[in-house]
Amino acid sequence: MSTTATLGVCYYPEHWPEPQWAEDARRMVDVGIRIVRIGEFAWSRLEPRPGDYCFAWLDRAIETLGTAGLKIVLGTPTTTPPKWLVDRLPDMIAHDREGRPRGFGSRRHYDFSHQGYRVEVARITEVLAKRYGTNPHIMAWQLDNEYGCHDTVRSYSPAARAAFQDWLRARYGSIDALNKAWGTVFWSMELGDFAEAELPNLTVTEANPSAWLDYYRFASDQVVSFNRLKADILRRHAPGQDLSHNYMGFITEFDHFKVANDLDFATWDSYPLGFTDTLLRLPAAERQRWQRTGHPDIAAFHHDLYRAVGRGRWWVMEQQPGPVNWAFHNPAPLPGMVRLWTWEAFAHGAEVVAYFRWRQAPFAQEQMHAGLLRPDSHPAPGFFEAEAVAQEAATLPMPDSARAPVALLFDYEADWLLTAHPQGREYSFKHLVFDWYQAVRRLGLDVDFVSPDAPLDGYRLILAPASPMISDTLAQRLTGAVAAGATLVLGPRAGSKTENLHIPANLPPGRLADLAGFCVTRVESLDPAFAETVLWQGKTYQTRGWREATEGSAAVLARFSDGWPAVREQPHGMGRVYSWHGLPDGDFLRETLAVWAEAQGIALHPVPDSVRLRRRGPLTFAFNYGPEPWQGPTGVRYRLGGAQVMPQQIAAWVPHGFDDLEGED
Ligand code: GAL
Repeated sequence: MSTTATLGVCYYPEHWPEPQWAEDARRMVDVGIRIVRIGEFAWSRLEPRPGDYCFAWLDRAIETLGTAGLKIVLGTPTTTPPKWLVDRLPDMIAHDREGRPRGFGSRRHYDFSHQGYRVEVARITEVLAKRYGTNPHIMAWQLDNEYGCHDTVRSYSPAARAAFQDWLRARYGSIDALNKAWGTVFWSMELGDFAEAELPNLTVTEANPSAWLDYYRFASDQVVSFNRLKADILRRHAPGQDLSHNYMGFITEFDHFKVANDLDFATWDSYPLGFTDTLLRLPAAERQRWQRTGHPDIAAFHHDLYRAVGRGRWWVMEQQPGPVNWAFHNPAPLPGMVRLWTWEAFAHGAEVVAYFRWRQAPFAQEQMHAGLLRPDSHPAPGFFEAEAVAQEAATLPMPDSARAPVALLFDYEADWLLTAHPQGREYSFKHLVFDWYQAVRRLGLDVDFVSPDAPLDGYRLILAPASPMISDTLAQRLTGAVAAGATLVLGPRAGSKTENLHIPANLPPGRLADLAGFCVTRVESLDPAFAETVLWQGKTYQTRGWREATEGSAAVLARFSDGWPAVREQPHGMGRVYSWHGLPDGDFLRETLAVWAEAQGIALHPVPDSVRLRRRGPLTFAFNYGPEPWQGPTGVRYRLGGAQVMPQQIAAWVPHGFDDLEGED
């Protein structure tokens, strides 16, 4: 089946004079936009005083946009509780890690745990759901806006403390069970009652890591239940409209897979330049290299992650259209990049790409953030690139995405565990997973992210770069997949902790010991500025940051210069397990994965570090992030661009003789 790539835009009718709305809507439709998101910050206009609802303006905005031909995504405004509400419930304010209340005057100032705020959230959601739940112009709802933005999942307020105690009571049942799970006999931390449990911030030296891990689990569960509160109300009153949320780049403080269980599709907000500047820890030369294109894996990584979170259904809800305002520095994208980013999202399976925002606001915090229009309503450069995509999309049906050959395990709890207990300052779940993703993408392969609960059937190469906690079911699933013929690659620290964050009785890798054929007897964390050398297949490579000493039956494929095994291999059933006992540099990782993928019969398509490929069924896309032209294959039929892919340009082709994209054959 094929679908049409669809464009959308984020719009704030409350920011503009009403007479302008119809003209804005007409221009959106003219440029090829079909979907508009509104309302997610509008609480102070919807309810200026307690209980005094003002829906007439929103009724008219929806009618104007809808009759112009746009489908609407309506936001619940719960990310911006207005001043009167905060003054009524002053203790609904979130507290930072230092224990300080976070002030009113921006957004996301609420505490997920505050029961009084939850009542208000349910009230405004229900009123909106009843009013608009059957409105034919509204296709979907966005619940809140960017959970986790501005470091707001983890609050250290009195409301959070009380809710944490309830959460612990429900998890452990008895205080003895908690004491055992946390190992509180250490340093006389034993508790006599759940009411004595404190939040783990503000301790003199490090707090108990098991307590931190539980607190992180608790904070994530608060997001899940806060989201579910709204989802349940909308399901009752808006049965025909889909529910979604706009997730973010590199936010891991809550389990997105769990939030997604209550939603119909995932969306995320893609700002490749801002993320490259602020999130990737790149050396200066690399940051400079990608400053106007974004790093070639930063958007794709999240496209693939959110495809998994949305169980196949996902959008980009906010696409960077020009310079933003919030990064350390805010360069302008090179000409062509807005189009490239948009097509790249579609290539990874997006149903919709919506730009943030329609018109640049001349006032308030984001006045320096570009829109498709300048503040004076003239088109900004991004406008023309969106228009080009709309025209191309009309002639290019999008086939379904197929299963990728490579699965990458992504476990939010793993991130929390390694944050609670890093052992080496720079040890970072996100960066490790990103490094492995990059290595596979340089081989020209498509990647599927897989949650710890998702099936692994059909994947030939399963990567677990950072899986310190392996549940019984995951261990069984991995064992089954390998027995059936898959190759499993484990990063260091695999299975190194129990679910309470203890060292397993049989030592790491705990539940994977039989499958992987080794036991970790000693570890060391190292300054990542210093490299360790490893010899593999006659060549010298480097690792950094971590080493572990192992013994066991698994064959040693590579050794550190002092003889410690660096890479091991263990056959199991029809498959095999490779294990890393250090953190390989990019070339090392890529070259080993290339060998192991090829041994699985996976065809590689190595690309330069500035080019990426991605397939949707028979359609292959190429994206050139670099300054040099790239030569695409010959003997194929190009549907976008041609064999010479110029800088910041794209191409898309089908095999020669293939005409069925439209489903007409
Ligand atoms: C997102 C947010 C938007 C806007 C945008 C600016 O994080 O959802 O409301 O602030 O960033 O880039």
